[in-house]
Amino acid sequence: MRQPRILVIDPSGAAGLPYARFVARLQPMELRVETSLEAGLAALAADAWDLGIVTARSPGTAAQLLHGIRQADPDLPTVVLDSAPNVETARLCLQAGAGDYLDIARAEADLEDALVRILAESRRRDAEEVLRRAVERPYSFEGFLGESPAMAAVYSIIERVATSAVDVLVTGETGTGKELVARALHRRSRRAAAPFVPVDCGAIPDALMESELFGHERGAFTGADQRRMGLIEFADGGTLFLDEVGELPLALQAKLLRVLQERRVRRVGARQETAVEVRVIAATSRNLDAMVESGEFRRDLFYRINVVRIDLPPLRARGDDVGLLAEFFVNKAAQEMHKPISGLSIDAYQVLKSYHWPGNVRELQNAVRRAVAMTRSATADVEDLPDDIVAAAGRAAISCDDADTGFFAQRAQHVARFEKQFLSDLLTRHQGDVSAAAREAKLPRGTLYRLMKGHALEVSTFRK
Ligand SMILES: Nc1ncnc2c1ncn2[C@@H]1O[C@H](COP(=O)(O)OP(=O)(O)OP(=O)(O)O)[C@@H](O)[C@H]1O
Ligand SMILES: [Mg+2]
Repeated sequence: MRQPRILVIDPSGAAGLPYARFVARLQPMELRVETSLEAGLAALAADAWDLGIVTARSPGTAAQLLHGIRQADPDLPTVVLDSAPNVETARLCLQAGAGDYLDIARAEADLEDALVRILAESRRRDAEEVLRRAVERPYSFEGFLGESPAMAAVYSIIERVATSAVDVLVTGETGTGKELVARALHRRSRRAAAPFVPVDCGAIPDALMESELFGHERGAFTGADQRRMGLIEFADGGTLFLDEVGELPLALQAKLLRVLQERRVRRVGARQETAVEVRVIAATSRNLDAMVESGEFRRDLFYRINVVRIDLPPLRARGDDVGLLAEFFVNKAAQEMHKPISGLSIDAYQVLKSYHWPGNVRELQNAVRRAVAMTRSATADVEDLPDDIVAAAGRAAISCDDADTGFFAQRAQHVARFEKQFLSDLLTRHQGDVSAAAREAKLPRGTLYRLMKGHALEVSTFRK
């Protein structure tokens, strides 16, 4: 543990030093003595302190000192040492925020107590602060929910590359949040005020794709009765999001490569090119590497867009994020549907945990919405979930119980048994006080709740 840092402000220039030395002998600490209010305040402004000790000779000066300290650091615990203690000064000092008021003559005896008490108090507050921050740990990032290590890695890449202009390829199964990544990159970039232009390469018919992307001149083809700007130009200065880039026809892949290399576009039917400055973020749920091998996707374009790749993990690889997301989606759906639903039943939660989620977050969101819409009770239950999910999850659970002798299955079973035992013991010790239990276990409270849910542990069974 770090040493406490104590600042003595002793304008009288008399008592401070010996007491400071005495104090320093009580326990190891960093000590500084300032002999004027001004120097004391400067030290307060420059550094962080755990305790202030102030000497006083008259009621006025003590209160003035305390007032100055309160302004510089409102949370600093402060002890006043008075060489002529009296009730009036004591009252003034305590009113001005002093943590304690001691007679200098008896200070050696009293100071140790005061010191231990005040330092313990400030350490407790520090610990609470750490805990509070842990509980409020940002498990959300730019529209993403999730605190699994796999997602933390994704947030970190987004943070690192967002402000550079480098093109990015986002890969991942359907519903994993590829569009969220693209939007997060744009929002965090220097071009956030410029347009974010999504283009769904899979949804636009091939015949229209070229003029959509590149624009056209009037009369370029039948029906082109007006000159039109393409989406690439429209994204000038901003971000072009090429969703499902694997669906782009080969001929357009070549044209797109040219845009990326030359940063110029030529509208259909135009003679001249126009300069554009866009950042391209491409996304695909298909295996582009394989498509390159089979000749469906141009290798040169692949190299060009694959400068930085962000690969989103499937939901089934995100551990407890399933619970976190399910809780969030339940609350959201309940609010939207004006239904007083407090959450999912433990069984329903367990079904969600063991399902393999081929449709990832989007599928989870839909399943939970359906459950909230269907349920007639205060918690959504297994019977409210889509049948295919329940059936598939049931099979998964059975195959797990099938005395799997593999390392991972065995380890998972041991971890599960350990978790349940640990949580039961912990909650028994704290008689169901989850906050106290979380503090002891050094776990964020939300995590503790989710673990309890996962093991079907109810707080009420631990209350005396
Ligand atoms: N980590 C997350 N936290 C909260 N919501 C999420 C998260 N990931 C995805 N979503 C939500 O799930 C839905 C699907 O996300 P998104 O459209 O970004 O996926 P996608 O990978 O582009 O899917 P597709 O390949 O089907 O286009 C959206 O409603 C999105 O807001
Ligand atoms: Mg998408």
